[in-house]
Amino acid sequence: MEKKEQKPGFLKLKWAEDHMPLMGVIRNRFKTERPFADFKIGMALHVEAKTGILALLLREGGADVYLTSCNPLTSDDEVITSLREDFSLNVYGKRGESREDYYKNLDHVLGFSPDIIIDDGGDLTRLLHTEKSNLSENIIGGNEETTTGVNRLRVMDKKGILRFPMFNVNDAIMKHFFDNRYGTGQSTLEGIMVATNLLLSGKEATVCGYGYCGKGIASRLRGLGAHVSVTEIDPMKAVEAVMDGFPVRPIRESLNKSDFAVTATGMKSVIRYDDLLTAKPGIVLANAGHFNNEIEVDRLDKLSIKKEPMRKNVTRYFLGNGNHVDVLSEGRLVNLASGQGHPVEIMDMSFAIQALVAEYIVKNHSSLENKLYPVPVEIDNSVAMLKLQSLGISLDKLDEEQLDYANSWEEGT
Ligand code: ADE
Repeated sequence: MEKKEQKPGFLKLKWAEDHMPLMGVIRNRFKTERPFADFKIGMALHVEAKTGILALLLREGGADVYLTSCNPLTSDDEVITSLREDFSLNVYGKRGESREDYYKNLDHVLGFSPDIIIDDGGDLTRLLHTEKSNLSENIIGGNEETTTGVNRLRVMDKKGILRFPMFNVNDAIMKHFFDNRYGTGQSTLEGIMVATNLLLSGKEATVCGYGYCGKGIASRLRGLGAHVSVTEIDPMKAVEAVMDGFPVRPIRESLNKSDFAVTATGMKSVIRYDDLLTAKPGIVLANAGHFNNEIEVDRLDKLSIKKEPMRKNVTRYFLGNGNHVDVLSEGRLVNLASGQGHPVEIMDMSFAIQALVAEYIVKNHSSLENKLYPVPVEIDNSVAMLKLQSLGISLDKLDEEQLDYANSWEEGT
């Protein structure tokens, strides 16, 4: 990235680029190979610096890129300004935009008739199967970034209603092992700490959901000295939490003792208004899942007797029974709404997968069906190898004898 004016958005992009070595390697190859020449890519992602680097990389690979936000509260306006003014990128959205503008921007991106979509949370995909289904014929394939979007896609795939091939980027190993655990783990705590300026050490905390995100959040909370309990609906995940040393409790029992509670499930109404009536007074509630329905903020809005802003991104609700709770970032993704999103190196890996899967779609679309596909293992492997190279780490190799051993089935000698 050439040095331009020292605008804050430009500097954020430059900082991200400097710490995204995988993007650098892929960009250099794409610049010469131009896999996306004549292709249009529509993207609905959290528009912040790391996402900007992905969008610019795809453009260097020859694509016409149209980028909008996948969440009204997570855009970085400084980055948007720089992407527009310094890089002439087609980028839409604004932090705090209305629901109406949010949907207008999604429509706008689809209005360019993209060939490929890159989605986070599934809103572009849903529109292409409902109001904008006439535009789905142009789509040769798409990627979905996150657990919530993939949950929707699984249902659509099972029902056989997908109108184009979609790739489940979330479940790629090089995505969820790192992004969901270390990325969500670190950035969720950053969001909570920035919003509240409260101590976590010695506090009681509830983590709702022990998937990869929940695991990351729970282990980092413990690392900062909090006493963490987990709530689960899945028996195997619950056993895993217990074996990892976290008590598993029903939600009301856990909230009743907790100073903090974080949702990371992809399910709605995980913390209900009624659960909060008996929660510890002043409990801080944060959501790390994609949608703002994991904590019942709409019912809090309706049923509370009073609502007061306490700090930037902290709202206090006074409940009908005299209890009160503090909700962060209107129940939206706390890591992006109050923090800066996942650490740069994490998004380097996740977005490397996005870029390589988009290239795979271009090369293979004629043989793809309208199904939900896993990320090809070669892509996962190549991202792992690129990451190791960037860290200067080499691997050992099996010799002939070991390879024979690995491929034999007789008793070992
Ligand atoms: N930055 C850009 N996209 C993100 C995501 N899906 N999660 C966290 N940080 C991000």
